[in-house]
Amino acid sequence: MNTAKLILDGQEYELPIVVGSEGEQGIDITQLRAKTNFITVDSGFGNTGSCTSAICFINGEKGILRYRGYPIEQLAENAAFSEVCYLLIYGELPNKQQAAEFRDKLTHHSMIHEDMKKFFEGYPPTAHPMAILSSMVVSLSTYYPDAAENDVDLNIVRLLAKVNTIAAYAYKKSIGQPFIYPRNDLSYCGNFLHMMYAVPAEEYEVPKVLEDAMNVLLILHADHEQNCSTATVRLAGSSLANLYASMSAGICALWGPRHGGANQEVIEMLEMIRQDGSNYKKYVDLAKDKDSDFRLMGFGHRVYKNFDPRATILRKVADDVLEQMGINDPLLEIAKQLEDVALKDDYFIQRRLYPNVDFYSGMLYRAMDIPTNMFTVNESGMAPTILKLLTK
Ligand code: ACO
Repeated sequence: MNTAKLILDGQEYELPIVVGSEGEQGIDITQLRAKTNFITVDSGFGNTGSCTSAICFINGEKGILRYRGYPIEQLAENAAFSEVCYLLIYGELPNKQQAAEFRDKLTHHSMIHEDMKKFFEGYPPTAHPMAILSSMVVSLSTYYPDAAENDVDLNIVRLLAKVNTIAAYAYKKSIGQPFIYPRNDLSYCGNFLHMMYAVPAEEYEVPKVLEDAMNVLLILHADHEQNCSTATVRLAGSSLANLYASMSAGICALWGPRHGGANQEVIEMLEMIRQDGSNYKKYVDLAKDKDSDFRLMGFGHRVYKNFDPRATILRKVADDVLEQMGINDPLLEIAKQLEDVALKDDYFIQRRLYPNVDFYSGMLYRAMDIPTNMFTVNESGMAPTILKLLTK
């Protein structure tokens, strides 16, 4: 079958079938309006692909996520985030030399123009870091005004390198501490955590377990098909808005609680349960009660119906971090109890509601002492695929 038939007012039209990288099929309606004067209605784009892409593959029923054909489990176990960036952008894992050169570029482009530090001064201490991140990213376009015509690869590197610094500066601004400059001897993730937690008066060594956890977190969030923020970047970029402006639009889209902001809601829910006497059973019952709007945040997924492969990976990482850092946190205790209930309770089993990636990433960020409103920042500007999609 390589065409689909559509009958409108008795007239038959043939529409081409496109076949994806894993054999999935779609009906190509790009000529529909020209040929029939009809359009389609698909609010939410649940049935609509806006482009073909060989970057990412998801099978929600089987819990499969692959980047360029590599299972996410393999990448999370063996790769550095910078290598995964390279894979997503250029289609192949780098060899040793390519990996070293790319890592070196990410390191050497990590400083932002000194004048940009003044921009941070204008925000109130309570400013949400996502607002700061998006405005700083669009501000980069004023320093690189020729990004549209000029070396695409260089601008990808600039953006990946500088969002690390911007994210850490946004945090330092919110707690009133001096900015810590990027260091060239640290890894991408090590550098980020160093800029977050070091203070000028003291030596600070990033614990290896946290650096590894951040590496996994960034790999797991590097791509997820045509999701809300990626689609937003593509839409903004389609007007030929520059790279930084388009990325800034995507960062704003990611901010919302139905997208990148869900892990923040997980922690807020756990905090609410703690303040209410840690009676987690009450909230499980409330989530099951059809007269209540309450849902357990961090449970269920639109696509993954058996398990979310990213959640399985993060669950183990979260256990390692909690154990190795000796963390004893009442919120994380409540999270474990909710997880236990959800995995055994018929309501959740029948509806295939498992803890999702946001449940564990929320726990992990909390264990890493990353403030709740910074969670989404960590996952945002650093997503490399968005950059390449835009520049294709
Ligand atoms: N708690 C309690 N009940 C739930 C939950 C939940 N978290 N999620 C779904 N349900 C129930 C629904 O009430 C519904 O029950 P019913 O069949 O008796 O009416 C059934 O499960 C199916 O729910 P839908 O909303 O149809 O499932 P859908 O697949 O459309 O929604 C979603 C998925 C939006 C993620 C949902 O599970 C949810 O709201 N979860 C909480 C928010 C969250 O964690 N979001 C982050 C998702 S991960 C990510 O985006 C990266």
